[in-house]
Amino acid sequence: MTQQTVILAHPFAAEVMAELAAGFRLIVPAAGRSLAETVRAEPAVEGLISFLSDPVDHDLLAAAPNLKIVANFAVGIDNIDVAAARARGIYVTNTPDILTEATADLTWALLLSVARRIVEADRFTRDGRFSGWQADLLLGKELAGGTCGVVGLGRIGSAVARRALGFGMRVLYTSRHRQPDLERQYGFEATDFSDLLRRADVVSAHLAYEPELHHLFDRDAFALMKPDAIFLNVARGALVNEAALIEALEEGRLFGAGLDVYEAEPVISARLRCLPNVVLAPHIGSATTATRTGMARMAAVSVGQALAGRIPDHLVPEWSRQHPSPPAPG
Ligand code: DGY
Repeated sequence: MTQQTVILAHPFAAEVMAELAAGFRLIVPAAGRSLAETVRAEPAVEGLISFLSDPVDHDLLAAAPNLKIVANFAVGIDNIDVAAARARGIYVTNTPDILTEATADLTWALLLSVARRIVEADRFTRDGRFSGWQADLLLGKELAGGTCGVVGLGRIGSAVARRALGFGMRVLYTSRHRQPDLERQYGFEATDFSDLLRRADVVSAHLAYEPELHHLFDRDAFALMKPDAIFLNVARGALVNEAALIEALEEGRLFGAGLDVYEAEPVISARLRCLPNVVLAPHIGSATTATRTGMARMAAVSVGQALAGRIPDHLVPEWSRQHPSPPAPG
């Protein structure tokens, strides 16, 4: 029997790649060959595992008439034209839940690094500049007793907010939907975006990117924030007008920022890289071995389900919301 063809956009967890290769004709783009070129060369492809850095647009989908599923190796799906996939009956899945705790940990790692100036301190110490204890050396910002503002209280936002309680912080949040259970259980307070910006000592973005949210954090937003607030973004770069953030940081209108994502990723502004009160990470929110292996397996399972003629478990809600009655895939 002819094996079904699956394209994996880039190598990932070796054990999951081996499992995929055992069940399918697995193709990984050759060095120097783009995903789009690889898809065009394999019109029989039925399953595609994409990375968040791979645009899966109308043209790519049109080049794969037999495609049944795009399984994104990420929870965010802003790289995929879900409406175009849906119109062709191609399932779109993501990797929810499994990366929540790892991403919340990274958010807090950035926050603590900015608040206690850990990167500056490390550089200072390595440079041999530590000449003895000083009362005013590398003074940071106290978190206990402050307010953590979580913009988007979904899975990751809630996990970040729960951690804030352990650090003695109050939690303010904005969300598309009120979360009365979390308010009762943890004392989180719902508010609107402007009020959160005015009152929070830490503002942390946890929204899925959609075009209506482009540059949600703009000049006006940064102007509302406290002059010693810390801004964090582990969600998507385009939620932030990076030039406005840089201006606020350069002018000393924020204590600092911790960023894992960028507007023109992987390009990072030289002005941002020069700022000492900013901690920069290379989009590693979910980067633990256990989480990335789990994400890989989840994507592989979704492909297996779709190619066996089943509706995959992790179909993205946006797919079902696009039209009331989907065409049957395949
Ligand atoms: C995601 O899954 O969307 C993250 O940004 C990748 O870790």
